[in-house]
Amino acid sequence: MDFQTIVYQKSGHAGIITLNRPDKLNALNSTVLEELGAALNLAESDSEVAAVIITGSGEKAFVAGADISELNKLNVATGKEFAERGQALFQHIEQFGKPVIAAINGYALGGGSELAWACHIRIASTNAKFGQPEVSLGIIPGYGGSQRLVRLAGRGIATELIVTGNQIDAETALRLRLVNAVVDQSQLLSNAMKMVDLIAGRAPIAVRLALQAIEAAVQSTQREGMKIEAQLFALSCGTDDKKEGTSAFLEKRKPTWKGR
Ligand code: COA
Repeated sequence: MDFQTIVYQKSGHAGIITLNRPDKLNALNSTVLEELGAALNLAESDSEVAAVIITGSGEKAFVAGADISELNKLNVATGKEFAERGQALFQHIEQFGKPVIAAINGYALGGGSELAWACHIRIASTNAKFGQPEVSLGIIPGYGGSQRLVRLAGRGIATELIVTGNQIDAETALRLRLVNAVVDQSQLLSNAMKMVDLIAGRAPIAVRLALQAIEAAVQSTQREGMKIEAQLFALSCGTDDKKEGTSAFLEKRKPTWKGR
C-alpha cells in the first residue's frame, strides 16, 4: 500500500511504521492518523508480524505533536471530534493484539508523547525529549495524555508535566519509569528488533492473551482483573500451543508454535 506520510515495512517478524514528515518533525495531521490506522490494520492481519515498532523519520523527532496548523482551526464542536478521533486510534494501539513498541528517536511532544504512552513498550534514544506542552498553546492534552500519564507516572508527576508544559529528557523519563530503556540513537531500532525477535519466539496466542490480561490490570479493579486473568489463562490452556510448549519443555526440545 502507498502511503504519503508514513512508511510501512516488514523486517523479520516486525512491522515497522515510520512516521514520515521530517520537515514538520513528524507532526500528526489527519492524513498521518488515517495512514497510521491503515498500517496497523496491515500488521494486525499479517501472521508473519509478531510485533509492531512505531518510530519517527530523521534524527530529531519521534513526533513533535499534533499538527498545530490543524489545531489552530478547531472550535468546540470540531475539537471534540478531533480528540475523539485521536483517542480512538491510540486506544486501538493500546488494545492491539500484538505488542506495539515505540522507538522514540527524538522529540516526543504533545500528541507524540501521547502516542508513546499508548504503546505497550517504550525504548528511547538518549536525545529523546518528552513533554505535554498543550497548555502553552491554550489547550489541554486531547489524545489521552491526561489519563494515561496519571496511570503511568502517578498524579503528581503527571500534573507537573501537564500544567508546566516542561520537557524532560530520556534519563528523567527512565527514572520516572515512563520508558523501558534508553539507548544510543544508532542502537534504537536494533534494540527494538531484538525485543521483537524475543516476542516472535513465544507462543503468539499466549502473547495476545497476556496483552489482554495486562490491559485488564489498567482498566479494572484488581479483583475484576483476577477474574479476567483466570478466564484468559483458561483460554491459553485450550490451545495446541500450550500442549506443544509444555511437552517441548518436558521432552527437552524447542517448541514449534502453530498459533492455535
Ligand atoms: N505542528 C506543526 N508543525 C510543526 C510542529 C507541530 N506540532 N512541530 C514542529 N513543526 C514544524 C515547524 O513549524 C517547522 O516548520 P517550518 O520549517 O515550515 O517553519 C518545522 O516543523 C521544524 O520545527 P522548528 O520549530 O523550526 O524546529 P526547532 O528545532 O527550532 O524546534 C521543537 C523543535 C520541537 C521544540 C519545536 O518545533 C516545537 O516546539 N514544536 C511544537 C511542539 C508542540 O507544542 N507540540 C504539541 C502540539 S499539541
